[in-house]
Amino acid sequence: AAVKKYQFDVVVKNVSRLCHAKPIVTVNGRYPGPTVHAREGDRVIINVTNHAQYNMSIHWHGVKQLRNGWADGPAYITQCPIQSGKSYSYDFNITGQRGTLWWHAHILWLRATVHGALVIMPPLGVPYPFPNQPHGEAELSIENQGNTLGLPPNMSDAHTINGKPGPLFPCSQDKHTYALDVEWGKTYLLRIINAALNDELFFAIAGHNMTVVEIDAVYCKPFTTDALLIAPGQTTNVIVRANRAPGRYFMATRPFMDAPVPVDNKTATSILQYKGVPTTILPLLPRLPTPNDTDFAGAYLDKLRSLNTPQFPANVPLTVDRRLFYTIGLGMNPCASCVNGTRLTASLNNITFVMPTIGLLQAHYFGIKGVFRLDFPDKPVTAFNYTGAPLTANLGTSKGTRLSKVAFNSTVELVLQDTNLLTVESHPFHLHGYNFFVVGRGIGNFDPAKDPAKFNLVDPPERNTVGVPTGGWTAIRFRADNPGVWFMHCHLELHTTWGLKMAFVVDNGDGPEQSVLPPPKDLPLC
Ligand code: C2O
Repeated sequence: AAVKKYQFDVVVKNVSRLCHAKPIVTVNGRYPGPTVHAREGDRVIINVTNHAQYNMSIHWHGVKQLRNGWADGPAYITQCPIQSGKSYSYDFNITGQRGTLWWHAHILWLRATVHGALVIMPPLGVPYPFPNQPHGEAELSIENQGNTLGLPPNMSDAHTINGKPGPLFPCSQDKHTYALDVEWGKTYLLRIINAALNDELFFAIAGHNMTVVEIDAVYCKPFTTDALLIAPGQTTNVIVRANRAPGRYFMATRPFMDAPVPVDNKTATSILQYKGVPTTILPLLPRLPTPNDTDFAGAYLDKLRSLNTPQFPANVPLTVDRRLFYTIGLGMNPCASCVNGTRLTASLNNITFVMPTIGLLQAHYFGIKGVFRLDFPDKPVTAFNYTGAPLTANLGTSKGTRLSKVAFNSTVELVLQDTNLLTVESHPFHLHGYNFFVVGRGIGNFDPAKDPAKFNLVDPPERNTVGVPTGGWTAIRFRADNPGVWFMHCHLELHTTWGLKMAFVVDNGDGPEQSVLPPPKDLPLC
């Protein structure tokens, strides 16, 4: 195993983007930021120096950070922000993970431009477990950009691939298009990252099928598809064979939105470009599922299965020590300074999370009192018909920094239930510090008497972010073997801001080998 060192300088840079010149926050002046390369088993040290006028913190999305929440990154959860002019070294080991993950700012909305890929290769000399080793590889991060045109909250000005909207965007030029050069007959591993702030996305390549081989840095049973679905925070690796008529083919993406909210329908394109083909040829567009194609989405998600081989077993917890049921709700709270006297809010079990002013992990580790409470309810206080007719009563929520305590090494089942408080919507949920198994999913209300019998406990997909379907539920299981304080939140930035988040406190086990490591000396304090 090696030690991989990176220097990340957070700097504001003037760029010309989407036909406008504007300053953006970047790492090393690049957008997307630099790719971090490591191998399974490596130690990674990334020194982040903040030259911008904003507070900063960076999260290594999907890295388990065993006993090492200090390197996880969410501001006020595992650390205080890196202030302007200050540095912090994120120092972590990559244990038992390989594939594509990514990193992003974890404070305010800065992840819009502060993000990049984190590529974990198998150990030296170990091939991928695919029938053919790819000849080439590329990372494609998909973003949505700003909302500067006064559009409704979920709307963006554009989607982009590796920061570029593609030639169909008004005013676009060649330099605003990402192109991947391929050689006829060769195979390519594409590492697709949904770095968008607010959109679940379809992605397809004209004329080419994709073989999905890995999701969220876990190998899956390979399957071939003409389009894929990816939620904010998720990653998907596909193998593409360049075996069509040499030409130029669009790789395109646009949102999947089956909720009655305004549909952000902006398509981003990039180009799969066969070598030797003139760049003047007009590319072909792929057929993408329509924005409300719930059938495609369901069928696609059903195909995602863990590889579950002796080498890569799916260690699904078969028994459950702790059952949790959390409702996801949008609502409104009184707000004296707001135009209508109310403010949109979001909640889990009707609790809107309030960010603390010092890091929760610090408060937990040092036993600092009064920062959080450990009384997050295991189920909603009052049950109701979660997905029935739009619920307009009881839209108010209670507020608090309330966490849930989990015993070390216990097995947890969590059902996340969307509700029709205000409106149904899909929510990509991300748990820090863990992968989990997605054992079940359904539309409507979760039925504790019937639904568990249908759970997949053999080869469910293992991941770190899962979509809770619009007006439906998702069940996940994990073993709480990583002590610390771990954030869980909706990866739609708008919803996170509204309070759709909470955190687990996982106890230490017996002895130092099962306990949170001591904090690093340069941990930023508030
Ligand atoms: Cu990718 Cu808490 O975030």
